[in-house]
Amino acid sequence: MTAVPYDMRQNPGTDVFDPGFGIYVHWPFCAAKCPYCDFNSHVRHQPVDQPRFVQAFLKEMAAMRRLTGSRSVTSIFMGGGTPSLMAPETVDAILNGIARHWHVPDGIEITMEANPSSVEAERFRGYRAAGVNRVSLGVQALNDRDLKFLGRLHDVADALKAIRLARDIFPRMSFDLIYARPNQTVEEWDRELREAVSYAVDHLSLYQLTIEEGTPFYGLHKAGKLVVPDGEQSAVLYEATQEITEREGMPAYEVSNHARPGAESRHNLTYWRYGDYVGIGPGAHGRLTTGGAKIATATERRPEGWLELVEAGGHGMVDQELLEREAQADELLLMGLRLKEGIDLARWQTLSGRDPDPERERFLIEHGFIERLGNSRLRCTPAGMLILDAVVADLAC
Ligand SMILES: C[S@@+](CC[C@H](N)C(=O)[O-])C[C@H]1O[C@@H](n2cnc3c(N)ncnc32)[C@H](O)[C@@H]1O
Ligand code: SF4
Repeated sequence: MTAVPYDMRQNPGTDVFDPGFGIYVHWPFCAAKCPYCDFNSHVRHQPVDQPRFVQAFLKEMAAMRRLTGSRSVTSIFMGGGTPSLMAPETVDAILNGIARHWHVPDGIEITMEANPSSVEAERFRGYRAAGVNRVSLGVQALNDRDLKFLGRLHDVADALKAIRLARDIFPRMSFDLIYARPNQTVEEWDRELREAVSYAVDHLSLYQLTIEEGTPFYGLHKAGKLVVPDGEQSAVLYEATQEITEREGMPAYEVSNHARPGAESRHNLTYWRYGDYVGIGPGAHGRLTTGGAKIATATERRPEGWLELVEAGGHGMVDQELLEREAQADELLLMGLRLKEGIDLARWQTLSGRDPDPERERFLIEHGFIERLGNSRLRCTPAGMLILDAVVADLAC
């Protein structure tokens, strides 16, 4: 695929009415497993047969193309795992495959996740030449003690080198940090975040550390050997995060995502605006409109199991569920209330066949958790974002 300069005017990222059509490709391998992570990522001690995976990705794309019909893609995202362990030729073959199956307009957002420890300038240039125009770096912390605690293979020097390289090579760049670490004070986080903002280009993802079941951190936490900030401390850290990023011109447009206006991740907006997306690769999920119905797809999680399914049957899908309108309304609420722009009420009403329960809505408004934007939109207030799951549960019933 020819590399085209990214053109912000072609990014319909601020068009609330166009949820878009994204393609997600999952690379399920990492150099090491981080102790907090429950993503579908696996460590292999033998080299991964990338050409074999490419063939399987192409086959599964053909199966997905039969479901979606011909469509124009608004964004592509290669996530993981650690996609920056892929050779540039692998990335090039994946992007070429997507362009053979769907219409890929010039200049659409093409993002790839990268780990600072697996970054080499040559590979970054290769990804850029293949068509990647946005990179999302897993920096996680800007001090070596916490990087070590998080089990990361990189140190701060590696992270800064990766940020510099990404800024030089890609038109757009984001990086992730994890906060609300054990014993992290608001003063420490304040300093670290200000430093991060000074390195940022147009986008930052700031996640609170979540203790996920089945991870080593979960075991330590349960045994009382790892203590994370409680609800009140987390709220203080969250509010400091909002204040600092807003002051620096990178306000939150979603619970954990911050951008300069116009630089929001087009791909993630498609998820949160409840648009269609194809999920390709082991453990990838999709939401597709096919034959007038919306379906949820899920593929086999185990990489080798997925490969075998694709090679034998043309795709690795293990689940295809028809989503009834009520289920779609719930998903729209769950995803859309994460966004500062909130949800389009008319769309939700059409799907659910009802208005929000007036009493519940009044209660949530009076307590300052949600608000109406004119007659057409409903959104969470900053206080509501802190108890988002409860707000969604209340409105969904
Ligand atoms: C699936 S990872 C992929 C990026 C890349 N592999 C990396 O870790 O650098 C996406 C992001 O999710 C975040 N993440 C993963 N597990 C998390 C957890 N338990 N709590 C908070 N953030 C988490 C990290 O910030 C990570 O960069
Ligand atoms: S590198 Fe990323 S995907 Fe891999 S284990 Fe760590 S957090 Fe998870």
